[in-house]
Amino acid sequence: MTKALREAPLQTESSETLDPKNWDDIRSLGHRMLDDMIDYAADIRDRPVWQPIPDEVRARFRAELPCKPCDLDDVYREFTDFIVPYATGNVHPGFMGWVHGGGTAVGMLAEMLAAGLNANLGGRDHIPIEVERQIVEWTRRMFGFPDRASGIFVTGTSMANLMAVLVARTTALGRSVRQRGLSDDGALLTAYTSKAAHGCITKAMDIAGFGSDALRCIEVDRYHRIDVEALRARIALDRSAGLKPFLVVGSAGTVDIGAIDDLSALSSLCREQGLWFHVDGAFGALGILSPALAPRLAGLENADSIALDFHKWGQVPYDAGFLIVRDGDRHRDTFSAPAAYLRRETRGLAAGSSWPCDLGPDLSRGFSALKTWFTLKTYGTEKLGAVITRTCALAGYLEARILAEPRLELMAPVQLNIVCFRYRANNANLVNGEIVIDIQESGIAAPSTTLLDGRLAIRAAIVNHRTDTGDLDVLLAAVLRFGAVRTRAA
Ligand SMILES: Cc1ncc(COP(=O)(O)O)c(C=O)c1O
Repeated sequence: MTKALREAPLQTESSETLDPKNWDDIRSLGHRMLDDMIDYAADIRDRPVWQPIPDEVRARFRAELPCKPCDLDDVYREFTDFIVPYATGNVHPGFMGWVHGGGTAVGMLAEMLAAGLNANLGGRDHIPIEVERQIVEWTRRMFGFPDRASGIFVTGTSMANLMAVLVARTTALGRSVRQRGLSDDGALLTAYTSKAAHGCITKAMDIAGFGSDALRCIEVDRYHRIDVEALRARIALDRSAGLKPFLVVGSAGTVDIGAIDDLSALSSLCREQGLWFHVDGAFGALGILSPALAPRLAGLENADSIALDFHKWGQVPYDAGFLIVRDGDRHRDTFSAPAAYLRRETRGLAAGSSWPCDLGPDLSRGFSALKTWFTLKTYGTEKLGAVITRTCALAGYLEARILAEPRLELMAPVQLNIVCFRYRANNANLVNGEIVIDIQESGIAAPSTTLLDGRLAIRAAIVNHRTDTGDLDVLLAAVLRFGAVRTRAA
C-alpha cells in the first residue's frame, strides 16, 4: 500500500476542487432552481397528486455509477423531468394518505440555507447547536417540562420511540446495562401499549433486544383508547408471574383513527407503579398548539418522554422528528460515550458540552433544527395551532358529508384529523382497496387504507395545511365514481 502510494504521487493541483470555475454560472442556475421550486409549491394544484412511474423512467435510475462529469444543467433537467413529476405528492392538498405533512416554502428555503452552511450538529461549539437548543427549550415550554429536560432532533418518531425505549431500559436496569447487555434482569422486563399503537413501538422493542413478545398490547375501547383497567390488571398479572414491568407507551393520536389515550390516567398509573411513561405523539402531540385540542392532551405534561414529528402537523419539510425527555440525565446516561477524539474543552471549538451526540446514536447530524426554527419563528405557534385546528374541522366536514351519503359508511368515530370510511358494496374489502388505488392512479387525490376489525377502510388523514373543503369534495366524488365503476365490474 505505502509502496504503491510512493510510486504514484498524489496530486495537489487546485483544479481538483469541486467548486465551479465561474460562480456566476451556478448562481443563475441556482436562481432558476429556486424559482422552479417556488412555482412548484405555488402551482401544486395544477399537478396530479401522484402518478405511476413509467418503466422507462424507473429504468433511468438503474444507471451505471457515473465516472465522468456531467453538465449541471443536464443533471437538473433530469431532476425536473424525471424526479419532480414522480414524487410522493404530499405537497399537494389532495394528499391524505398515511400521515404526511405538506411542508412550506419557508421550510424549503431554510433547508437550502442549512445545506449551504453544511453544519454538523453532532457537537462542538457553534450557533447551529444553539438553534437546536432553542427548539429544545421551546418544546420543553410547549409541553410544560422542567428545566432539566433534554431533547434532540431525529429522523422521525420511529427513531424517537426506539430511543425512548432505550432510555427507559437504562433507567430500569442502570447504566451497567450498556456494558453487560440485557442479561437475566433484562429478560424479565415487560412494556405496555395499546392494540392501536403504531407498529414502530413493537419494532423498537425488537431492536432494543427485548423481543416483541415483551410488549403487551392492551385492549382498546370503541374510540381506540387504551383500556386503563385492563392495563392495570395485566401489569399486576405480570408482576405476580415474577416479571418486571418498566414502560408504558401511550398514544397521543393513533395512526389509524387519531385516538388519544387517557394520558392523565396513564401518567397516574405509571407514577403509582414506578413505570416509565412515554407518549408516542408523532402527529398528535403538536395538538398542544391548538387551544381546541390542548385540553384533550392533559397528562402529556407528566410524561417521562415524548416522541413527535415537526414534519407532520408542524408542516416542517422532512425530516424533523424529535424526542424530549423529562430528565436529561437519564437521556445522557443512555447515549453518552466518551472518546478521546471527541474530547470536550471549556474554550475553543470543542467547548459547549454536552453535545447532541450525547443524546442519541448519531454523531454526524444535519441541521433539521434550522427549518423548524424558521417555521416556528415565521408562522408562530398561534398560526400553526390554527392550522391544526382547521385540519380537524375539515375532518368534521368530511365526516358530515359521509354521514349524509347513503352509499358511504363511516368506519370509526372521527376524533382528530383522520376519517375512515368506505363505499358500501358486496366484497367491500376488495372493492374499497381497488377504489383507493384507482383514485391514487387518477392523480385526483391520495387517500390510503387501513384495516379496522378486519374491514378495509379508506383512510383520509388531513395533515396538509393546503387542504380545503373543495379537496374533500373532490375525494368523495372520486370515491363515488370509482365505487360505482368497481361495483358494476364485480
Ligand atoms: C402514531 C404514530 N407513531 C409513529 C409514527 C412513525 O413516525 P415516523 O414515520 O416519523 O417514523 C407514525 C407515522 O405516521 C404515527 O402516526
